[in-house]
Amino acid sequence: MIPTHRMKILVTGAGGQVGLDLIRRLRGQGHEVHGSDVIERPAGADSDLPWHRLDVTDPAMIDALLGEIKPEWIFHLAALLSARGETRPQLAYAVNQTGTFNILEGCRAHGVERLLFTSTIAVFGPGLPSPVPDEVPLLPTTMYGITKVSGELLGAYYHRRYGVDFRAVRFPGLISATLPGGGTSDYAPLMYIEGLRSGSYEAFCRPDTRIPMMYMPDGIRALAELAACPREQLSRSVYNIAAFSPTAQEIADSVMQALPEVSITFAPDPARQAILDSWPDALDDSLARADWGWSPEYDLDQMTAALLPEVKALVREIATAT
Ligand SMILES: NC(=O)c1ccc[n+]([C@@H]2O[C@H](COP(=O)([O-])OP(=O)(O)OC[C@H]3O[C@@H](n4cnc5c(N)ncnc54)[C@H](O)[C@@H]3O)[C@@H](O)[C@H]2O)c1
Repeated sequence: MIPTHRMKILVTGAGGQVGLDLIRRLRGQGHEVHGSDVIERPAGADSDLPWHRLDVTDPAMIDALLGEIKPEWIFHLAALLSARGETRPQLAYAVNQTGTFNILEGCRAHGVERLLFTSTIAVFGPGLPSPVPDEVPLLPTTMYGITKVSGELLGAYYHRRYGVDFRAVRFPGLISATLPGGGTSDYAPLMYIEGLRSGSYEAFCRPDTRIPMMYMPDGIRALAELAACPREQLSRSVYNIAAFSPTAQEIADSVMQALPEVSITFAPDPARQAILDSWPDALDDSLARADWGWSPEYDLDQMTAALLPEVKALVREIATAT
C-alpha cells in the first residue's frame, strides 16, 4: 500500500519484538521513520535509520525529542510486557501507565496529529463470553492489563478533549522469529525457537491452554492499515483483531509435524498459567473487519510454514554470536 502522503513518524519502544518489523514496513511505504527506545540502537536496525534514546517515563526527554523532530504520527510501543510486568509491577506502572500519559501529553503539547497504541488481550479478565466483543467490562488481573486499560481510556479522553487522533489495536499473542520480550504467550514462539535450537522445549503452560495468537506480519499490517484508515470510517478508537486460537498442544503438534525430531513437553508454571487462564480464548474482531477491512492472512499451519525458515536463520545467528 503506497501512502498518499509521506508522514514523519516516531516509534517508541522500537528496539523490541514488534518495533523493527513495523519500522521496516513503514519505511517500505515511503514514510520518514525515527526509532526510539531506552536501549541503544539494536544490531538488527537499518544503519540509516535515525535512532534516538528516549525513556518514556521522562517527560522532559519526550518534550525535547518531539520539539526536535516534530513527528506527525507516533506509534507508541514502549512497554513492559505481562510476565516481566508481574515481576516488576512498579516499573510496569511507570513505563506503561505514566509513560503513555507522558506520550499523550507530548502529542497535545506538540500538535502530533495521530497516535497509534498497542493494546492487548491482557485488558480482559476472566468470565467473559467467547468470542469476546470489543465492548465488555475490562477487569484484568495483571498490572500489565490494568495499565493497558488505562492507556485505552486516556487515549479516548485525549481524542475527545484535545483532538489527538488516538487509535489502538488489541494484539493477540504475537509470534515471530525474534526472541520474545517477557510476555505470557512466549511459550508459542519458544516452541519454534527452542525446538530448532536444542531439539526440545518444555512449555510453561498446560497443553489445553487456548488463547488468541497471530503471526507477526499480520499484526504489523493491522497496525499500519489502522494508521492509514480515514478517521470517518472508524466507529471507535480501540479494536479487537484476531487470527487463530490454537491450544498449546495444537501449536506443539504443528511444530512437531513439520519437525518430527523435535520434542515438546509441558510443565505448567502456576503464576503464568493463572494469567493465561484469565485471558479470553477467542476475540470477536467483526468491527475491525467492517470499519477498516481487517482480515488476517495466516492460520496456524500457514504460519508454521512461513516461520520455520525465519527461525532457522535466527538460530544460526544466535549460534554465531555465542
Ligand atoms: N509481543 C506480543 O505478543 C504483544 C501482544 C500484545 C501487545 N503487545 C504490545 O506491543 C508493544 C510492543 O511489544 P513488543 O513485543 O515489541 O515488546 P518488547 O518487550 O519486545 O519491546 C518493548 C520495548 O520497549 C522498550 N522500553 C522499555 N522501557 C522503556 C522506557 N522506559 N522507555 C522507552 N522504551 C522502553 C524496551 O527496551 C523494548 O525494546 C507493547 O506495547 C506491547 O504491550 C505485544
